[in-house]
Amino acid sequence: MQFDNRFAGRKAIVTGGAAGIGKAVAARIRAEGGSVSLWDADPKALEAARAEMGGAHGRLVDVSDPAQVEAAMAESLAALGGLDVLVCSAGITGPNATVRDYPIEAWQRVIDVNLNGLFYCNRAAVPAMQKTGYGRIVNVASVAGKEGNPNASAYSTSKAGVIGFTKSLGKELAASDIRVNCVTPAAVKTAIFAQMTQQFIDYMLSKIPAGRFGGIDEVTSLICWLASEEASFSTGAVFDISGGRATY
Ligand SMILES: NC(=O)c1ccc[n+]([C@@H]2O[C@H](COP(=O)([O-])OP(=O)(O)OC[C@H]3O[C@@H](n4cnc5c(N)ncnc54)[C@H](O)[C@@H]3O)[C@@H](O)[C@H]2O)c1
Repeated sequence: MQFDNRFAGRKAIVTGGAAGIGKAVAARIRAEGGSVSLWDADPKALEAARAEMGGAHGRLVDVSDPAQVEAAMAESLAALGGLDVLVCSAGITGPNATVRDYPIEAWQRVIDVNLNGLFYCNRAAVPAMQKTGYGRIVNVASVAGKEGNPNASAYSTSKAGVIGFTKSLGKELAASDIRVNCVTPAAVKTAIFAQMTQQFIDYMLSKIPAGRFGGIDEVTSLICWLASEEASFSTGAVFDISGGRATY
């Protein structure tokens, strides 16, 4: 479902905006009247997404590099003329392996992208939002951060970190109209599945009482509500979208 002009005049940055959930969120914000800057580390996917979205602003950025994030923020602020919305969807799964065999470099990369990178993006966005006193930040965590998926320790840990970080920043900014929330989806079929083993994908599906994967549109709807003016009294909160999997 799409709303008329819910994001009219709103300026948004979407990390991981070239694919999957981030791309769908960016397209919905544009379709509802907002302007968007897509941040992504994949040049081909970024160009394709920009073309699909009628030449939307895009920036090649590896969110795990704070200097790149700072430079991208300056460029996007100039291109958009300010910032109202940040959606952090950039993420990787890392390999599926037991902790005793988990490659240390892979662990560090997952934490760098999913947690440290998200911190750099949130950190860079806050001053821009404080200029107007309005902002909506939506961080994409995962049900893995609440429950802990076996053979995905780095990913589960990074997403648990995103939950804790979101709760902290939400409280820091609660007295202003800057809202900071996160979503915790169960598995949604996107290109990210290519990073996991089939056995792990089967495991994730088996844990969802609804008996199916989530839809990109379903997750997009929740994120876009949290990114809109309507989400005015929720902050530092964790929003479930897991087909009944999450128990809290
Ligand atoms: N799909 C799922 O099952 C699922 C479930 C729960 C949470 N999530 C989370 O949702 C978010 C989006 O996942 P998706 O399913 O759309 O995956 P996806 O792979 O389709 O999209 C992720 C995008 O992030 C980009 N990216 C990766 N590393 C980056 C980096 N260092 N800097 C900038 N961009 C980078 C990729 O190039 C890609 O375009 C991720 O944070 C993921 O952990 C996904």
